[in-house]
Amino acid sequence: MAPQQGKANKASSDISSPVQDSISLIINNETYTVGPDVPPWTRLVDFIRYVVQAPGTKALCREGGCGVCTVVATVPDRESPGYNKTFSVQACQAMLYACAGWKIETIEGLGNRYTGYHPIQKALHGFYGTQCGFCSPGMIMTMYGQTKGSEPLTSAKVEASLDGNICRCTGYRPILDAFKSMTVDADPTLKERLVDIEEAYNGVCEKNGTNGCGACKGKEGGRCKKSVTDLLPLNPGKVQISFGSVRWFRPTNIDGMYSILRNIGTEEKYRIVVGNTGQGVFKNDGPYSAYISTDGIEELYITSVGVPLQLGANVSLTRAMELFHHMAETQPRYSYLEVLANHWQVVANVAVRNTGSWAGNLMLKHAHQGFQSDIFLTLLAAKAELTIGSAEDASTTYMSLEQFLRTDMFKKVILSVTLPPALHNTKLRTFKITPRAVNAHAYVNACFRMEVDPIDNFKVTHKPSILLGGINPNFIHATETENFLMGRRLTDQATVVEAAEILGREVQPDNHPQDASPAYRRSLSQALLYKTIVGFLANKVNPKLASAGPNIERPLSSGRQEFDMDREAWPVGEPLPKLESATQISGEATYLDDVPYLPNELHGALVQTTHANAKISHVDASEALRLKGVVTFVNAADIPGKNSFIATAGAYPDPVFVEERSKYAGQPVGLIVARDRDTAVRAAQMVVVSYEDVKKPVLTIEQALSEGGQDEIVTFAFNGTVEPAVLGDPEGQLEVAPHRLKGNLIQGSQYHLNMEPLAARVVPIEDGYDVYCTTQWPTETQATVAQVLGITANSINMSVRRIGGGYGAKISRQNVLAAAAAVAARSLQQPVRVVTDLNTNMTLAGWRDPYYATYDVGFEDTGKLTSLVVDLYSDAGHVSNESPVGFLASVIQNCYFIPNIRYRPHIVNTDTAANTWCRTPGHVNAIGTMENILDHIASYLKKDPLEVRQLNLITPGVPRLLASPHEQTPIKDVILPLLLEKANFVQRKAEVEEFNRSNRWKKRGIAVMPEYYGFDYPSVFRYGLQVSIYAHDGTVAITHGGIEMGQGINTKVAQVAAYTLGIPLAQVVVKASETTVAANSTVTGGSFGSDLCAHGVRKASLALKERMDVEKEKIKKNTGKEPTWLQLVQHCFSHDVDLCERYW
Ligand SMILES: Cc1cc2nc3c(=O)[nH]c(=O)nc-3n(C[C@H](O)[C@H](O)[C@H](O)COP(=O)(O)OP(=O)(O)OC[C@H]3O[C@@H](n4cnc5c(N)ncnc54)[C@H](O)[C@@H]3O)c2cc1C
Ligand code: FES
Ligand code: FES
Repeated sequence: MAPQQGKANKASSDISSPVQDSISLIINNETYTVGPDVPPWTRLVDFIRYVVQAPGTKALCREGGCGVCTVVATVPDRESPGYNKTFSVQACQAMLYACAGWKIETIEGLGNRYTGYHPIQKALHGFYGTQCGFCSPGMIMTMYGQTKGSEPLTSAKVEASLDGNICRCTGYRPILDAFKSMTVDADPTLKERLVDIEEAYNGVCEKNGTNGCGACKGKEGGRCKKSVTDLLPLNPGKVQISFGSVRWFRPTNIDGMYSILRNIGTEEKYRIVVGNTGQGVFKNDGPYSAYISTDGIEELYITSVGVPLQLGANVSLTRAMELFHHMAETQPRYSYLEVLANHWQVVANVAVRNTGSWAGNLMLKHAHQGFQSDIFLTLLAAKAELTIGSAEDASTTYMSLEQFLRTDMFKKVILSVTLPPALHNTKLRTFKITPRAVNAHAYVNACFRMEVDPIDNFKVTHKPSILLGGINPNFIHATETENFLMGRRLTDQATVVEAAEILGREVQPDNHPQDASPAYRRSLSQALLYKTIVGFLANKVNPKLASAGPNIERPLSSGRQEFDMDREAWPVGEPLPKLESATQISGEATYLDDVPYLPNELHGALVQTTHANAKISHVDASEALRLKGVVTFVNAADIPGKNSFIATAGAYPDPVFVEERSKYAGQPVGLIVARDRDTAVRAAQMVVVSYEDVKKPVLTIEQALSEGGQDEIVTFAFNGTVEPAVLGDPEGQLEVAPHRLKGNLIQGSQYHLNMEPLAARVVPIEDGYDVYCTTQWPTETQATVAQVLGITANSINMSVRRIGGGYGAKISRQNVLAAAAAVAARSLQQPVRVVTDLNTNMTLAGWRDPYYATYDVGFEDTGKLTSLVVDLYSDAGHVSNESPVGFLASVIQNCYFIPNIRYRPHIVNTDTAANTWCRTPGHVNAIGTMENILDHIASYLKKDPLEVRQLNLITPGVPRLLASPHEQTPIKDVILPLLLEKANFVQRKAEVEEFNRSNRWKKRGIAVMPEYYGFDYPSVFRYGLQVSIYAHDGTVAITHGGIEMGQGINTKVAQVAAYTLGIPLAQVVVKASETTVAANSTVTGGSFGSDLCAHGVRKASLALKERMDVEKEKIKKNTGKEPTWLQLVQHCFSHDVDLCERYW
């Protein structure tokens, strides 16, 4: 179809309306007016955090992917003039100046300890839904936004709502339970736990004051027509703000938009701003000299809910989905829109869909044709037609989506899309195959549209559409397959096979490291075609094959916890919300970057290398230093002490700033310091690093081994050496083993994904520096800063209130930032803060080390192990400080008896960031290796893997590799039998096998895998702590050397203190960790921090109690009465009894 010309949209001129040079918005009921002094690219999240000073709204990814920045907005509903709408929005995506007239609520506006909590906050608290708490405000705001919809909140909707909110610590069960307890169909046990919540939730429908009357359902696309116009006092008009070379526009109609576009120079780059979510996908499309917000243009929101369906360009994905459902329910020839709505449900996440427009998505596809846009593909499958307006002559053109891709869109605007009704015999199936179920771009997305005649063996009556995304930038239609299928019958097996073969030939995926492999994407395309046809044929296919047709439907999740409780010991062991939970749910819990800025505080941004294994020939920061607001650039030459951020955490130095050769891409070269963070980040990108002698980097263990020489057979761990370990005669026994298998196993890396990024802040003070850092180990951070600055440890004061998740990433890696900030703070004699963004966080520091294992195993006919030789290679990155592979001799055998075993640990260096500790470091990989060996044996012997495992379970007293024999074997004797019984394993396994026999394609599985976690720690792992009782009122404060990072260490020590001292828990508080009291404390990690600190608090509390009991006896003797706690405390104070006690 050729583009068609049409008449210009009729629109009134906005030329006469007054122009404002500022915008106003309301945040937590305060009005803010912002003019040219705040940069045009400012995001709402930064304004909220740093100007409004409401740091409960967090920031991590800044690309719409994590949800920690979620706030709730009420805006005029331009799709229903005269009404408002309220929804959750990611403040990292929303541009400040695009929020003209908006009313924003942040977590601070919802409730807190002074004003009382909102029911959603209470629910999360009551269901123990927080650990580190960094994600909690975003979770709550997302759910709060969901309660503002027109339909009652259901459990299914809750489960679908958190698709854009990541929690890395808590696990979703308690979070979902908390929110589901408030739904209309909540499980009674959830309701019971928080009975008062539902009552409070009744306010969800502001029209009728109940859970929603449902009267809006089916009407005008299911929108509630309640007028809430009076809620929005600000009525923004036309805006034009000049920021020097950059301008911000807010026209109020299309004519105004055209006139702005006409005045834009041909060389200029401008951005139309709708949801601005596109920057979350393509970050580097700027810089722009003009931003044009379309928020005020009502024409772009107009929808025509009839035949045909028409949507204005600004219609959000969420609103479009509502209309699709409505049309599918009410218009039979639009039933296909249900398929589109379901597909769009897995596009991005709730908040992106709330503000992101379909037109913005198409423009992303236009600019980046390799983008696997779901919106483009599905609208193409719907045979949609676009209306495009041209600013030059205000004309409109109608075109297909493929024509649109070929059209020059400079100074053109998408105005609307028209979706035609389908033929009666149309069948549409769409797919999005992703690494995760939600919030992920597709490996491959696909739409199959066919008009078929079911009476005539599903003959394809019109040319079908077979559309595939994620193949290569030019591939859309599988034209040869479409042509082949035309006129053929889908019930004919040979036709289906040939169609799949043709498709396999014409699909030629490109090859990028970040994508799934071309072979996988090709076979996926074929599988989806097969799945589509089987689905269309439904009961016409052999029942054994039919399961290929339907998608897997995930039912509502549920979980139950059962545990024994010793009430005698309460509050020790008492299930309670964490001590910090109340401040976490209100956003009052303070993380490093939430601390207000000192007036002279500066911001640092790292300059990182872009090449691994290359000599740095030159670093030129001159252009960056000329940028307004940039203060300095520091590098290795500015380090007065030792250029290494490893003090005691390893044997080898790891430079703060690289000096000669870049060891890995991402290594810090220096730090740009500026007056604001945005400037620092922009300037850091302007520093030019030149390279010479660029060598091909070694990136994997296999590559390192094949290229030779990088393997160290003796491992280094905390300066110690670990030798290979042997038990019995493994090689001899392998020779005589009845069966022998050899194999290898590759295990990849893992990013920690701590929600609070690595950060540090250094404040010069009169006798040294106050250092704040996201650290699991303040002692090491303190030592590192002292080492780098060449000063004494006692001039460094460390204080850590909490960190937003650690998982090992904050044991040593954060110290590069503490060191860099310290170098800059010393050089400038001013406070410097460095907070990484997600990209820096991921490239600066290593992750879990990847592993490669080779094994040679001998066993009997039964599967009983006789001998094993296993080599485990760990990729330490560019320096071998933190590989746990040397510790794994006693772990590799898991809970099995292997009479003859040789374990050889190896460290391999690659040209990558030094890898680091990550949740049960090495254990996961060693146990994974052993379990893989057992699976290999079971598969070889054609035996049940569980049977092989049970046969080899260790018994008391038998020898173990580099470890003493077990006295008891609870896994074998208690845990495994109990688990099998409680899980009804045998019956479920039989059902799985029956299902698998009956279904050719869809398979089920069930497995049990025992796991042994050896819990021990060296005696040097100690924490300093102090328990202090205040004579004023008898309350207790504790400070300890452990770090609260979500695991609940503070709650546990407080419970122990309360129990030991015999006082209510409410009288005990836990303060920040300080290196003055807790000097020389060890790292918090390895599951021992809470227990050792609790033990220390018990010892200190017992010592206090002992001396107070002496006084108690005296009082009793003198007065004949038992003193109250406060009387006793005050008596002790006045009789010179020390009310503070330390423990080490
Ligand atoms: C975390 C995340 C996950 C995502 N996942 C998916 C996914 O799974 N599948 C998928 O398909 N997409 C996905 N997206 C993309 C998302 O759908 C788009 O970002 C969104 O639809 C863009 O709409 P917007 O209103 O925010 O556009 P904006 O970001 O405001 O604008 C995007 C571009 O469109 C231009 N533009 C906007 N409106 C017009 C107009 N009327 N005329 C001309 N130009 C215009 C702008 O100039 C800009 O260049 C994801 C995005 C994010 C952030
Ligand atoms: S979604 Fe906004 S910071 Fe991650
Ligand atoms: S509690 Fe959710 S990320 Fe830590």
